[in-house]
Amino acid sequence: MREAESAELKEKVAEIWWFHSIDLGQGVITPGVDNSPKKLKRVQLPPSLDGKTVLDVGAWDGFFSFEAERRGAKRVLATDSVIWNGLHDTASKRGFEFARRTLGSRVEDMHIDVLDLSPERIGMFDVVFFLGVLYHMKYPLLALEKVASVTKELLILETAVDMLWTRRPAMSYYEKDELGNDPSNWCGPNPAAVLAMLRTAGFRRIEVVAGLRSVFFRIARAAYYKIKRGYPFFAAVRTDRIVVHAWK
Ligand SMILES: C[S@@+](CC[C@H](N)C(=O)[O-])C[C@H]1O[C@@H](n2cnc3c(N)ncnc32)[C@H](O)[C@@H]1O
Repeated sequence: MREAESAELKEKVAEIWWFHSIDLGQGVITPGVDNSPKKLKRVQLPPSLDGKTVLDVGAWDGFFSFEAERRGAKRVLATDSVIWNGLHDTASKRGFEFARRTLGSRVEDMHIDVLDLSPERIGMFDVVFFLGVLYHMKYPLLALEKVASVTKELLILETAVDMLWTRRPAMSYYEKDELGNDPSNWCGPNPAAVLAMLRTAGFRRIEVVAGLRSVFFRIARAAYYKIKRGYPFFAAVRTDRIVVHAWK
């Protein structure tokens, strides 16, 4: 009986294009292109979110929303626009909805653009996740101000960074698909620019919890991406990703 249920679950999972790798139980993990458990370690969510309200901005399949619920959050709101609005060739909201049903989750959802976030529209949340979204923003500082406006305590930000050769705040602007061959990427701030924008947006204590990897690591990774995916080698060496925790 169990084997039949697990086989049926696997079949349904296979009908969906997944971004996140979500453990649905019964030995089934969604075949996401994203190594979500690895990202989870780097992002360093608080071990307990007991009694907290959590907002997950740009939630996609909802891996981090479900994780917040698992860590005891009393309310989780997952929001997205591009993917959930069907503006992508293959990806959609189907993964989020399927995972929520299968996990028996009470995570709420709302289709809303980052630039439309405000306390009036969605209220305020103790903890806000802004993971993998900043570099998709045409107006990054405005986006951070909108995110700050709905954050009560802690913002957890994960982002791609560029312009790593300068310590002064600086930002790349991607007119086409210069970052990762993806035309939905618009900006690559360097770490100093991320921190400066967070201060401008009203955060008082800011900590980089996962910083730049060594240049040797970045060269090896760039060579791998060049061979595997055809990404431009030097562009990949000069970019990385960081995780920042910022408190109001
Ligand atoms: C790279 S994915 C990150 C998914 C997830 N947060 C993670 O870190 O694994 C970027 C997500 O941001 C969403 N997104 C992009 N632009 C957005 C916007 N203007 N408003 C709301 N969501 C947006 C996309 O639809 C997508 O789900």
